[in-house]
Amino acid sequence: MFTAVEMAPRDPILGLNEQYAADSNPNKVNLGVGVYYDDNGKLPLLACVKAAEEDMMKTPTARGYLPIDGIVAYDNAVKGLVFGADSEPVRSGRVATIQAIGGTGGLKVGADFLKKLSPNAKVLISDPSWENHRALFTNAGFVVDSYPYYDAAKRGVNFDGMLAALNAAPAGTIVVLHACCHNPTGYDITAAQWDQVIAAVKAKNLTPFLDMAYQGFGHGIAEDGAVVGKFVDAGLSFFVSTSFSKSFSLYGERVGALSVLCESKEEAARVLSQLKIAIRTNYSNPPIHGGAVVAAVLNDPARRAVWEKELAEMRVRIKAMRQKLVDGLQAAGVKQDMSFITTQIGMFSYSGLTKDQMVRLRNEFGVYGTDTGRMCVAALNSKNIDYVCQSIAKVI
Ligand code: LMR
Repeated sequence: MFTAVEMAPRDPILGLNEQYAADSNPNKVNLGVGVYYDDNGKLPLLACVKAAEEDMMKTPTARGYLPIDGIVAYDNAVKGLVFGADSEPVRSGRVATIQAIGGTGGLKVGADFLKKLSPNAKVLISDPSWENHRALFTNAGFVVDSYPYYDAAKRGVNFDGMLAALNAAPAGTIVVLHACCHNPTGYDITAAQWDQVIAAVKAKNLTPFLDMAYQGFGHGIAEDGAVVGKFVDAGLSFFVSTSFSKSFSLYGERVGALSVLCESKEEAARVLSQLKIAIRTNYSNPPIHGGAVVAAVLNDPARRAVWEKELAEMRVRIKAMRQKLVDGLQAAGVKQDMSFITTQIGMFSYSGLTKDQMVRLRNEFGVYGTDTGRMCVAALNSKNIDYVCQSIAKVI
C-alpha cells in the first residue's frame, strides 16, 4: 500500500530539533527554533502562568468539549489585546475571533476559509518568510508567490521592491505580512512604510493577513500591535493570527487565535460561522488548558501586570544578547562589521552566513541555526555566548 510513498524532507526548523536532540556534542547550542530560553538556558515557566495554573488546580474541573470557536473569555481577551478593549471594532462587535491551535492553527483556519471564499486568489509571502508560510498556504490549495523583502547588500528591507510587488498584484491577492519582529530576518518596516503598504493594499484591493506571533518582543505590546490600528483606521477588512507560544512561554500548549475584522457585527457573525466550519472539519474544537491559562492572566489586571513585566524582561534580555553577540564576534576576531545584529528586532538574527557555513557550524561545533542563516538570539545566554561567537568566527 505504501510502496510509492516517498520520504519527505525534514522540516527546516522543527527538524533541527530532532538533529539537535541526537547530537552528543556537550557544547551544543540550539539556535534553530524560535524559542526563548533564560540566562540559564532553561525554558521559563512564567510566574503569571504558574499562579494561574495553581489557582485552577485548587478547583479541578471536568473537561467537556469547548465551543467550536473556543473559550469566550479567551476570545474576548484576544480581541482586546489585538484591537484594544475599548476600540471601535471591539465595541461594535465586528471582530470575529476564534481560539486556534497555536498561531499556525490560526493561519490554517484563515487559509481554509479564504480558499472557500476566493478559490482563485494567489498568496504573496515575503521573500524570505517563516518557512511554514509557503507550505501552509500551498497545502490549503493556493498558489504561493513572494514579494521582495530582504536586501542582503543593504542589510535591511528592499522596501521599494516590496511596494512595487504589492502595487502590481491583482485585486484579491492575499498578502501575508509580519506585523512585527519579521521572521526570519529581524528587519521590520517603519511606521511610515506601513502607511504606504496599507495605501497600496487599499488601492489594489488586496486581502491582508497579518501574522502576529511575536507581539511584545520588539518594542512593547502596544508598540508592536500598533500596525493593527493602522489597518483599522484605513477602513480595511483583514485577518490577524496571534500566537501566545513565545509571549507566554506556552509552546507545547498550542495557544493561538485568528481574528477577522469585518464591516459589521452581522458580517462578523457570518464569517465566524464559516470559521467554525473550518475548525470543525479539521480538529472539531480546541483544547482547554492553554486558552484557560491565557484568559486567566489577560483578564486579571494583577496577573496581566506580571505578564507584561515578564515579557518585558524577555525582550530586554534578548536585546542585551544582541549586543553581546556583536561584541563577542569582534573579540573572537571577526573582522566584518556585525553591528547590524543590534538593528534587527525580535527573536531572530538573519546572520548573513551561507548554508555551507551554517552546516559547518552545526556539524563541527554543534551550533544549530537554519540553513538560511537564521539564528535565534533568544537562546543565547551568558554561558553559551562565547562558544557561539568563537564557533561563528571559525566558519566565517
Ligand atoms: C520558528 O520560526 O522557529 C517558530 O515559529 C517555531 C516554528 O513553529 O517554526
